[in-house]
Amino acid sequence: MVCLVTGSSRGLGKAIALALGIRGHRVVIHYRDKKSEAEAVASQIKESIVLQADVRNFNEVKSLVDEVVKQWGGIDVLVNNAGVTKEALLMKTSEKDFDMVIDTNLKGAFNFLRTAASYMINPHFEKGGQGGILKNQSARHIISISSFAGLKGKAGLSAYSASKAGLIGLTMSAAQEFSEYNIMVNAVLPGYMLTDMGIESNEKAKEVALHDSLVKEFSNPDNVAEFICYLAGTTGITGQVFNLDSRIL
Ligand SMILES: NC(=O)c1ccc[n+]([C@@H]2O[C@H](COP(=O)([O-])OP(=O)(O)OC[C@H]3O[C@@H](n4cnc5c(N)ncnc54)[C@H](OP(=O)(O)O)[C@@H]3O)[C@@H](O)[C@H]2O)c1
Repeated sequence: MVCLVTGSSRGLGKAIALALGIRGHRVVIHYRDKKSEAEAVASQIKESIVLQADVRNFNEVKSLVDEVVKQWGGIDVLVNNAGVTKEALLMKTSEKDFDMVIDTNLKGAFNFLRTAASYMINPHFEKGGQGGILKNQSARHIISISSFAGLKGKAGLSAYSASKAGLIGLTMSAAQEFSEYNIMVNAVLPGYMLTDMGIESNEKAKEVALHDSLVKEFSNPDNVAEFICYLAGTTGITGQVFNLDSRIL
């Protein structure tokens, strides 16, 4: 399968890319700034391409997706993973920061979903093929990484929570539109992970996450990656939100 994992230069995206690579899939490693980290991930995967794009920019995303299809002929799995956070109380959140978080986490996912889906619906899109579902074809998958904060909200994380809640709405709507094309669209919610994003959050947030965890552990990106690999191999599961957290809502 051709798998495109956004934000796979580090953190959860890297774990997902490596897990897909170990299973023999072709993996697109995508990054914004951290080129050498992205290349280091790619060097551990038998068949990989490293491509750069700012997820906020529709044209950059479209060029990236077009390049993948040019090189590998299509996309079977899209994982919308790239994300940012900006901690601030609502009354101290600037319009610029709010837009930056929404544009990255929500519009960025839309940009990839919108462009990649045109090829996933019909792999012969550019070649003027017959269109629509190919009956003997395995399901294709669009998996977006949302968050516990998107379901529960969190003081100090309004923009992030709004973006992740929006991602769930986007997922459920796309699932309804794409099921007839055998494209499964789901959201996955990891627990609190000690990636760069998790480490950079304030100490209090880490303490609370650990306290609220029933297993008193942070979430392991490799476990989340295993789940995503499993989901990407299924058929008939779509429009769902998989909460991999151990905090109870
Ligand atoms: N960490 C947690 O506790 C946690 C919990 C729940 C959900 N999540 C979600 O899981 C996903 C991965 O998070 P993480 O913890 O692995 O984060 P991370 O370590 O900070 O990595 C973020 C990734 O996103 C990329 N990225 C950020 N802004 C981008 C942009 N404008 N254009 C293109 N790429 C961009 C980064 O690329 P560069 O390396 O090039 O900068 C990097 O690859 C995010 O969607 C996050 O919201 C995280």
